[in-house]
Amino acid sequence: MLTTSKIGKIQGRISVPGDKSISHRALMLLAISRGKGRISGFLRGADCLSTMACLEQLGLEIEDLGSELVVYGQGLHGLRRPHRALDVGNSGTTMRLLSGILAGQKFPAAITGDHSIQTRPMDRIAIPLRMMGAVIEGKAGRDLAPLLIQGRNLQGIDYTLPVASAQVKSAILLAGLYAEGETVVREPKPSRNHTELMLAALGAEIESKTYEIRLRSSELQACDLQVPGDISSAAFFITPAAAMPGSHLIVKDVGLNPSRTGIIDVLKDMGAGISLENVTKLGGELRGDVVVRGGRLRGTVITGEMIPRLIDEIPVLAVVASQAEGTTTITGAEELRVKESDRISVLVQELGKLGVDIQELADGMQIKGPCAIQGAEVHSHGDHRLAMALAVLGLFSREPVKVRGSECIDVSFPGFEKVLGQIIKY
Ligand code: S3P
Repeated sequence: MLTTSKIGKIQGRISVPGDKSISHRALMLLAISRGKGRISGFLRGADCLSTMACLEQLGLEIEDLGSELVVYGQGLHGLRRPHRALDVGNSGTTMRLLSGILAGQKFPAAITGDHSIQTRPMDRIAIPLRMMGAVIEGKAGRDLAPLLIQGRNLQGIDYTLPVASAQVKSAILLAGLYAEGETVVREPKPSRNHTELMLAALGAEIESKTYEIRLRSSELQACDLQVPGDISSAAFFITPAAAMPGSHLIVKDVGLNPSRTGIIDVLKDMGAGISLENVTKLGGELRGDVVVRGGRLRGTVITGEMIPRLIDEIPVLAVVASQAEGTTTITGAEELRVKESDRISVLVQELGKLGVDIQELADGMQIKGPCAIQGAEVHSHGDHRLAMALAVLGLFSREPVKVRGSECIDVSFPGFEKVLGQIIKY
């Protein structure tokens, strides 16, 4: 159980573990590249370790040198039939992206995960992958995990995503590496583009525009990849620092890909003092330091194209919205209902227990701040981002906030409590 309570301010200079989305992609793409590639900054969270274990079951050789991983790429057709079902644990990214790769293999494979994964929608990948020619069967005839995927000779498709999802987009693009002809993915709103950038860095024939990505079957050539710090993890410190007058926080070397920096834009809109320093580009990905000076925030409206740019930061944004002056309204975020938990419902439930004036909307929520936070025991619902968001809300509470089920934080941020301990000042 993780317990937090009121602090004076946030101060210090920290780093956060590697970006989860980029770590998954680095391993998967190097697995199907030709040659040897090194990954530095790889996130050793439970989700990315699930990706690693699944790929090892598919015959991938990975050498762990501690500070970096060396991946011995098998080429597009070098993976082997696994002896048992692949287990993705809690990781939706592993489930969906790996399914795209499995669709192009010459062998069948079963893929499944924990209870949460078995309730999350997989029709969003099964439908386009079937259109490309894969044979996919879900549990009890429904498109839920476990999935049995029988690879086939695939055909490129021209597919418009019904929801903006980088996981679905990436699954189709990975299958597209194996497909005859061109694969085109069209997005209703731009989602994170790490797959496109990494495919380009590895030499794929890919053309990427804001709402449309085109790809042709291509062999990938391994290269060394450097994973920046995860802005979604950094957000758990940037956000409360921005809302606490007197705070001064520097988060070093964080990924600043514009498809992920919605949190910074929204916090600035709420009145936060945030600047970016030492910004560089590596492997197509922007990275740099985030400098935050605390102050008073005001409520805001978050909707439309902003949502995919901060989808994972909504739990912690809801937390600081409770400390901001005025109303914050978040709409167009119905995707939150199919994340690791139904994040709309659990946020309303758990933040409500701590005294937040929060109202549930079909596709989001409305929060009226500032709220006086009261201590209580709350529950993570097995959702890592909810657990961290609740711990952050405790920093504004006079009585202790006890987060039950906080061990799930290891999914994306092993060491969260330790880093938090380095920057809180009483
Ligand atoms: C991810 C994409 C997002 C995000 C998830 C990681 C990725 O999901 O919520 O945590 O790595 O591609 P969707 O693409 O399904 O929105």
